[in-house]
Amino acid sequence: MSTPQPSWGRSSGEVADLNLAPRPADHTDEDIDFGESGLGPTGRPLRQVPEPPLVAEHGPARILALCNQKGGVGKTTSTINLGAALAEFGRRVLLVDFDPQGALSVGLGIQPHHLDRTIYNVLMERDTTVEETVLRTCVPDMDLLPSNIDLSAAEVQLISEVGREQTLGRTLRPVIDNYDYILIDCQPSLGLLTVNALAAAHGVLIPLECEFFSLRGVALLIDTIEKVRERLNPDLEITGILATMYDPRTLHSREVMARVVEAFGEIVFDTVINRTVRFPETTVAGEPITSWAPRSGGAKAYRALAREVIAR
Ligand SMILES: Nc1ncnc2c1ncn2[C@@H]1O[C@H](COP(=O)(O)OP(=O)(O)OP(=O)(O)O)[C@@H](O)[C@H]1O
Ligand SMILES: [Mg+2]
Repeated sequence: MSTPQPSWGRSSGEVADLNLAPRPADHTDEDIDFGESGLGPTGRPLRQVPEPPLVAEHGPARILALCNQKGGVGKTTSTINLGAALAEFGRRVLLVDFDPQGALSVGLGIQPHHLDRTIYNVLMERDTTVEETVLRTCVPDMDLLPSNIDLSAAEVQLISEVGREQTLGRTLRPVIDNYDYILIDCQPSLGLLTVNALAAAHGVLIPLECEFFSLRGVALLIDTIEKVRERLNPDLEITGILATMYDPRTLHSREVMARVVEAFGEIVFDTVINRTVRFPETTVAGEPITSWAPRSGGAKAYRALAREVIAR
């Protein structure tokens, strides 16, 4: 059976041909090293995570918002790579680009600025459906609801709508049975778009850069999550906190890691994402690290994260 062509007009093969970055030798030099102590990079003993069970039937989806109002902490990178790793485990995944910058779309090799339909149209026009707007990605079983700068207008236009905070949730409802996971890549703000993502989600995944100032602002984020839980979405929970851009060689990274575990305890994932140039490379390549450098430490880390997410 031939796979339907993605509506941006290229097969995934052609997308790969556009890659500018040279494909890396797939070496494993940045493997996650848990040392001999049995302690993970979080400084805690590693928890046993069961092998993800095979799924015979799909849906209804668990919706996770990747959210942090601080910019550049790894939200988009984690959305792409967690999504790709979940798809490798046989899950059907929809990635929702909910940032007018469209970085999630670009990271999957799609230039969103000339698309006729994006998430903006689905949110604002009653006769535009998610089904006719999603694009296939180079990862089997992973679709993308793309976005571009048009979405910034939605934030203003939604203000006068009835049920403005629930617009995204209403929009996703018709496709919830088609997927096992829907991952929403939020923009770095706590505005109306992010509140929509939190109102639509079952869980929030908070990427946190291992850097001194990263803890600032998390209290405000958690406060926002609690308000959304009280007022709009009683089932909302924090699925986990993901430490990103960790450099095991620096005392600074290890100290920040210790502070994060001290402050948030069990909800910090055992999986920690190391800082590596491989991630910026994958953006240029327009594909996830799981296919760009499948045996790299980064790919292994996102697979380990996917296992934890499935188990939670
Ligand atoms: N583990 C990592 N190691 C090194 N660089 C990384 C890592 N994760 C992400 N990056 C790079 O850091 C930059 C920011 O990452 P990303 O776009 O995922 O963050 P973001 O939180 O989505 O940013 P924004 O708030 O602007 O949407 C990108 O250039 C990305 O390639
Ligand atoms: Mg982003």
